[in-house]
Amino acid sequence: MAKQIILSAAKPTNSLTLGNYIGAIRNWVKLQDEYNCYFSAVDLHAITVRQDPKQLQEDTLFLLASYIACGIDPKKSTLFVQSHIPQHSELGWVLGCNTYMGELSRMTQFKNKSEKAGKNIPAGLFNYPWLMAADILLYDADVVPVGEDQKQHIELCRDIAVRMNHHYNTELFKLPKPYIGKVGARVMDLQEPTRKMGKSDSGEKGAIFLRDTDKQIAKKIKGATTDSDTVVTYEDDKPGVKNLIDIQRALTDKSIDDIVASYEGKMYGHLKVETAEIVVEALRPIREKTSELLDDKGELMSILRDGAQKAREKAQIKLDQVYSTLGLLSK
Ligand code: AQP
Repeated sequence: MAKQIILSAAKPTNSLTLGNYIGAIRNWVKLQDEYNCYFSAVDLHAITVRQDPKQLQEDTLFLLASYIACGIDPKKSTLFVQSHIPQHSELGWVLGCNTYMGELSRMTQFKNKSEKAGKNIPAGLFNYPWLMAADILLYDADVVPVGEDQKQHIELCRDIAVRMNHHYNTELFKLPKPYIGKVGARVMDLQEPTRKMGKSDSGEKGAIFLRDTDKQIAKKIKGATTDSDTVVTYEDDKPGVKNLIDIQRALTDKSIDDIVASYEGKMYGHLKVETAEIVVEALRPIREKTSELLDDKGELMSILRDGAQKAREKAQIKLDQVYSTLGLLSK
């Protein structure tokens, strides 16, 4: 039986964070033997917010090197850069013509990001979900592993697919399911633990980046916001402490109860020191491997060219089906 298909991606905006690693990429690694996987650096999503061109190129290569360093094996999975596959933008337009303004304006991510954009909100920020739907539907993805924050976009992708299948009375699009890991689906900002840790939104102190040194990681966790209490308990009204416990839980095999019990009679300082040690040990090998991979950019580019070729072949099949279904004249 053919393996089911997985598609997932991250934006090359800044370095990946501990949140991206725990909430998304670590799950991709676990799934790559069982599924036929496509993993992408979605650079066209990155430019919904203005990027420095040189930095974007560096961040794109860094992101792909990080994927491999985290355990994605290019021999098992197809790795590619979104803009190398023009079919994403082509299908995106078609899906955009079948998406409603009301749906797009309800997206939480649009609301959050547009607030920060000031008076001139780029239309790309608003339209981003239909490009993301194209990323997924082009490959007939069965499953899309994401952090919890992306669930709403997957639901919209399914709604667009259902609408078009129904309208054209076909099984044109497969309906993808989100895969959200049980542990660490939302890692929170260290400074403002009621909002998620984000690559571009959290700032230097709020996020742990995969490029951070051991010292920087320890300093950030030491400076994490907690509360005026001192007893380590796992409760919603202690979001800072809860976040540190969740991070420990995601990176060790321990249960929440065991972690909390191990801090009986101890202070928040102990929790911070030990969480920092766990994060440092988890991220050090990834950082070292990423740096090795970036020393041989020729090899990295060759992996990306191979990935792009495989992805383009697959994507064109779906695009041809879509154009023909819609009545666009064939070439
Ligand atoms: N804090 C988080 N906890 C768990 N999962 C997370 N993800 C992101 N932040 C967390 C998951 O990582 C994957 C890749 O995300 P993305 O790069 O496409 O963009 P995003 O969701 O907008 O993440 P960021 O880090 O907040 O990026 P910026 O700040 O650049 O917009 C997704 O599966 C996401 O769910």
